[in-house]
Amino acid sequence: MDFMIRAATPEDCKDISRMIMELAVYENMPDQVKISHEGYTVIGYALFFYTYSTWKGRSVYMEDLYVMPEFRGEFPGKGVGTALMSKVAQVGKEQQCVRLQFSVLNWNTPSLDFYKAKGAQDLTDSEGWHVLRFDGEALDKLAQMAPKN
Ligand SMILES: CC(C)(COP(=O)(O)OP(=O)(O)OC[C@H]1O[C@@H](n2cnc3c(N)ncnc32)[C@H](O)[C@@H]1OP(=O)(O)O)[C@@H](O)C(=O)NCCC(=O)NCCS
Repeated sequence: MDFMIRAATPEDCKDISRMIMELAVYENMPDQVKISHEGYTVIGYALFFYTYSTWKGRSVYMEDLYVMPEFRGEFPGKGVGTALMSKVAQVGKEQQCVRLQFSVLNWNTPSLDFYKAKGAQDLTDSEGWHVLRFDGEALDKLAQMAPKN
């Protein structure tokens, strides 16, 4: 079997939503996903968007990278995960991005090792960044603190 990397289409939504749940299960947070689906023909996905670094300029942020378990490490030298991430890097570079950034859970050592083997820096180790979030009530409260002009 071979595989191809391509931009997602609306018809892929069912497969992608299934894999979003699979990734959440892998990350031990399936209850966080509020969408559902069935059936598949697509075996992996990368979801990305653009952000901006005031220090460095345009950046691409990879929110998810996922390959179904039975297709991981399946294609020596041209794996699906590597190909997906490489495509995100290529698209980002075409859009003048200077970085590809993403977050990984600290227990996910296979993926941390995978990214590091491809040349990614661990910014928590090298620069000490923490990932922070406001949601739910904390987000509501924060929004309510905005001055009314
Ligand atoms: C991280 C992930 C996307 C990598 O995708 P993949 O298709 O397995 O990656 P590749 O096959 O391109 O590369 C894996 C590397 O590990 C090696 N490997 C060997 N056996 C392997 C196995 N059973 N599973 C995965 N990789 C294996 C491969 O040889 C390859 O090395 P190489 O590039 O030197 O050839 C995939 O493992 C995954 O979906 N993991 C679960 C979800 C996850 O953690 N996502 C990231 C969240 S931040």
